[in-house]
Amino acid sequence: MEKKFTDVGAFLDTVSDLPVLPSNIQKITDIMSDESKSAEDISAVIATDQGLTSKVLKIANSAFYGRVSQVVKISESVVVIGLLNIKSMLYAIFMEQLYGGAKDDGNMLSSMWMHSISVAILSQRMIEKVNPGEKDTAYTAGLLHDIGELIIFKYEPGYFNEILGELKNEQMLPRTTIEETIMGFTHSDLGAAMARKWSLPRAIKNAIFFHHNPVDCDSDKTVVSVVHMADVICCASGISGTDRKPAVKDIMKFISKEATENVKFGKSEIQYYLSIMGDIRAEADKLIESVKGGR
Ligand SMILES: [Fe+2]
Ligand SMILES: [Fe+2]
Repeated sequence: MEKKFTDVGAFLDTVSDLPVLPSNIQKITDIMSDESKSAEDISAVIATDQGLTSKVLKIANSAFYGRVSQVVKISESVVVIGLLNIKSMLYAIFMEQLYGGAKDDGNMLSSMWMHSISVAILSQRMIEKVNPGEKDTAYTAGLLHDIGELIIFKYEPGYFNEILGELKNEQMLPRTTIEETIMGFTHSDLGAAMARKWSLPRAIKNAIFFHHNPVDCDSDKTVVSVVHMADVICCASGISGTDRKPAVKDIMKFISKEATENVKFGKSEIQYYLSIMGDIRAEADKLIESVKGGR
């Protein structure tokens, strides 16, 4: 079979309307890197965008934050969501627009979105135990790890379906091998290319690029490892997007040994995270509900 493209660059050359990273994310990132950051500065950026303002207010008032009294001011909502969580929330809003904005076929996009947000939440829970300072990075990396799949779905739906068909027919072949054979690149290649286009931090780009083969990565190992493990655990728990669902009893075969070693996790930690997947799913449901709507 002939590959559709020579590489991911050749594919990107065919697309003229790739999604762009909202400027408010870049502005908030700049503010957050400034020591003297304040909720007021962040509110001022949000307030310049009316759609975003109403969404952030809605989120602060959603069940996710379980408040009794109503939040009416944007500065108050920044405090409710938390200064450190605002950026992750903006990424979640952006991703929701991407998943919600593409033409759906059945419930494909909603299961991909559920998968992404669950991997984000679980990655954050996992990294809290190892390096809490990277919580925000792990969350965003989890949210974006399969962005390449979404782009393939959106721009090459025929090939996307062909990949899904082969995933069923060729149970022994890794997804990335199937994608490489059909498309000439993988969803990890494409995701990393998007991360480069959007000038995302290296750790996020690496987590996207190496989430199926963390052993090949030699930097940002903590973030890369948790996103890889969270991905496999979510799939085994049935929150798999369009990926295969490894049997829970065989889960250690699907988790990279190097990834567990990088964060000093053993089988018992993996079992623990599998056991809290009910909570993760419930949290993901609430978050999806809170960022949804307003369209
Ligand atoms: Fe993936
Ligand atoms: Fe995934």
